[in-house]
Amino acid sequence: MSALHPTPHPKERRIIFENISKPGYAADIDTYIANGGYESLKKAVTMKPSEIIDAVKAANLRGRGGAGFPCGTKWSFIKYDDGKPHYIVVNGDESEPGTFKDRYILHQDPHQLIEGLAISAFATNTRLAYIYIRCEFPHAAKIVWKAIQEAKARGFIGKNLLGSGFDLDIYVHQGAGAYICGEETALLESLEGKRAYPRIKPPYFPAVLGLYMKPTIVNNVETLCHVKHILRIGAAEYARMGTPGDGGTRTMCVSGDVMRPGIYEFPCGAVTIRELIFDVCGGLKPGRTLKAVIPGGSSAKIMRAGEVYKIKGKGPDGTMVDKDLPMLDVVMDASTLQSVGTMMGSAGVMVLDDSRDMVWALNNLNQFYAHESCGQCTPCREGSLWMSKMTTRMLDGGGRDKDPKTLQDIANNIAGRTICAFGEACSWPTQSFLAKFPEEFEKAARS
Ligand SMILES: Cc1cc2nc3c(=O)[nH]c(=O)nc-3n(C[C@H](O)[C@H](O)[C@H](O)COP(=O)(O)O)c2cc1C
Repeated sequence: MSALHPTPHPKERRIIFENISKPGYAADIDTYIANGGYESLKKAVTMKPSEIIDAVKAANLRGRGGAGFPCGTKWSFIKYDDGKPHYIVVNGDESEPGTFKDRYILHQDPHQLIEGLAISAFATNTRLAYIYIRCEFPHAAKIVWKAIQEAKARGFIGKNLLGSGFDLDIYVHQGAGAYICGEETALLESLEGKRAYPRIKPPYFPAVLGLYMKPTIVNNVETLCHVKHILRIGAAEYARMGTPGDGGTRTMCVSGDVMRPGIYEFPCGAVTIRELIFDVCGGLKPGRTLKAVIPGGSSAKIMRAGEVYKIKGKGPDGTMVDKDLPMLDVVMDASTLQSVGTMMGSAGVMVLDDSRDMVWALNNLNQFYAHESCGQCTPCREGSLWMSKMTTRMLDGGGRDKDPKTLQDIANNIAGRTICAFGEACSWPTQSFLAKFPEEFEKAARS
């Protein structure tokens, strides 16, 4: 069964998935061209590179890989004529539990990515790009390789692409099989053939000292796909689809205890949690009630059903807000989720109903993080393992009175004390589960 439902929900607006949704749509270049493919690239080569970057900035495109950094701003860090080789590396490592959109794009519409990548290369004077694909996606790697050959044979990439005088080579690199390879500087180490240890920032910001110590842009698969649509429909219209700080659409992967899990695409800020679960995803399983939602992939802080947030500040539409906001009415938008203490992250929405034991759920995440810590920083290497051992012991009936407090202390001593954001990613679940469901952890501690 496809993860994308054949008929879009009325709240959806599919641009990334527009072609994929068409019956019989195939991943080959003829189908892509017949559906408007490579028209944006043709337009791009008639523009000044700086105009393309300005358009991406005006479109308010934020990165879709997790951190939400403004894409045009990232590109503008690269100095067009600095005489150095530049690189673009596409992050197709997609290992965050709950997130499964990039694989779908790579499988179903690889040319969409190649077109976005070629536009970004033209804008930043980049002649060599790598698409780093998670090694557990061997089929995706084959599909993308084939698409690269097709695009080269038709002159969309390669020497003097579209007669523009610009050359671009693209290679696929299969990942090294670890979640940490998705962290951009670990990914660059891995691409250079080394162990994927994240680099220390500063000084190793990719735009300054990236791949082979040269200026490098790392962008998520979906982020680059959006670029094609910005040129196609214009930056202003693209920006208008979303909120003032977050333009365009966003794909969301919904998993867990809903009737219709899958991948959806909405204008940024268009749905609340209530609409997403009960309207779009067909509600909960029969007889169940909502317990919690993790809104942005496994690292995002959990939200408890029934909570009310005191919101004061700028709302998603730019106006000032001062109100009580029930959890279900929170808008699935980067700035709103941030204002209630969690994040949009990679938009992997995990829904938990009242059948879920929170110690069990946290233990599941803790085991993942303990397994995936790269081991470079002591607080993360040791702490993630301790947390996982403790929640496993609590689940097995060996809880001790001090466990909740000790768990909290360990998590607090990881976050902010590591080279990369894996430290936060593995502590936020523990911190938020303990804060939102203290009674379940106290009960397990007494068992
Ligand atoms: C532990 C960890 C894992 C990550 N995994 C991914 C990933 O699989 N895919 C991804 O695009 N970004 C991932 N990121 C975020 C990247 O470091 C980086 O912010 C992103 O690729 C930038 O692209 P964007 O600006 O287009 O979002 C990860 C970050 C961390 C800390």
